[in-house]
Amino acid sequence: SSHAGASSCSVEKGSCLIGAFKPLRAAIGEEKMHVAILAGDGVGPEVVAEARRVLEALHLPQMQFEDGLVGGAAYKASGHPLPEETLQLARRADAILFGAVGDPDCDNLERHLRPEQAILGLRSALKLFANLRPAKLFPELADASALRPEIAKEIDLVIIRELNGDVYFGEKGFRTTADGYRQGYDVMSYDEQEVRRIARVGFETARARDGRLCSVDKANVLETSQLWRDVVIETAKDYPDISLSHMYVDNAAMQLVRNPGQFDVIVTGNLFGDILSDQASMCAGSIGMLPSASLDDGKKGLYEPIHGSAPDIAGQGKANPLATMLSAAMMLRYSLDLPEHADKIEAAVAAALADGARSPDLGGSMTTAQMGDAVLGKL
Ligand code: IPM
Ligand code: MG
Repeated sequence: SSHAGASSCSVEKGSCLIGAFKPLRAAIGEEKMHVAILAGDGVGPEVVAEARRVLEALHLPQMQFEDGLVGGAAYKASGHPLPEETLQLARRADAILFGAVGDPDCDNLERHLRPEQAILGLRSALKLFANLRPAKLFPELADASALRPEIAKEIDLVIIRELNGDVYFGEKGFRTTADGYRQGYDVMSYDEQEVRRIARVGFETARARDGRLCSVDKANVLETSQLWRDVVIETAKDYPDISLSHMYVDNAAMQLVRNPGQFDVIVTGNLFGDILSDQASMCAGSIGMLPSASLDDGKKGLYEPIHGSAPDIAGQGKANPLATMLSAAMMLRYSLDLPEHADKIEAAVAAALADGARSPDLGGSMTTAQMGDAVLGKL
């Protein structure tokens, strides 16, 4: 069933309607669906393996998987974190299921060779500018939240994070000051069309949900944010039905902990969205629970848990695979037009949690594979 209450990764409330910004894929029929699997580093391969088992259990003959190397794993094998072959695979695919990148062995490499460059490179090369990060508490996990249960249970929000601009992609480097001190710098900027297109995703998402959009910026200090705010206000003219508010990012961080229930849709830049989404995840139970979708302006998407490679627990079966499974559900919903199958995965995750399935991050002791078994049993 499409019981919205159980669904943490449906961005819409109540129904499976995709916002008007996503045209529906023409015809599914016999058409092949090509899914690139980029598991990456650390716990990435462990969590992706479980998500893949879940996808395979749906018995969709049209779905084809192809694996590629990415991140530190790719660097070690080929000398580059995003090899041309992997980029081509990602370009060909209808959707990408991504694990995580990041490897302490690579921390001293030149920046362009570090594992993180792979995910940044994919987001940029494939123009995946809209990052959807829903945060909703599964009722069973009220005790796992860092917040008191009565506050945590109110969380049901989506962070729409811009993913192709901001200080992430500005000019950066090291130089020496006039006084002879070493200095690092990263330029923050947004142009108006970048802001407009992400603002539209925010408004459309709010329209498919509760009709409330909060734009988060730092317009009291940053010119980048002033332009952001001006353009969001201009864009609002096309969305008279949406109630728009603005919040400074420091206040937003505070409000997320004080009263997360006040938020419906948050739209924000790359850096602020990175920070606020980690925070929101912990409010909603565990960073091991939150999925994400990174979309272009068509149907293409990259789907990944918001957590990282967690090298401290890699290879020990301690990682929670649910965020990756929920990301796979988002993939079915947004790139592959299989919302009923997305519902099935979400319902199976909810049912496994209701049965008491708990990985260590949720206060339990089940292994990654046991969590996979629990969900597969429900599926
Ligand atoms: C995320 C991650 C990435 C980011 C890192 C791995 C580059 O933290 O997806 O939130 O900063 O965007
Ligand atoms: Mg992050």
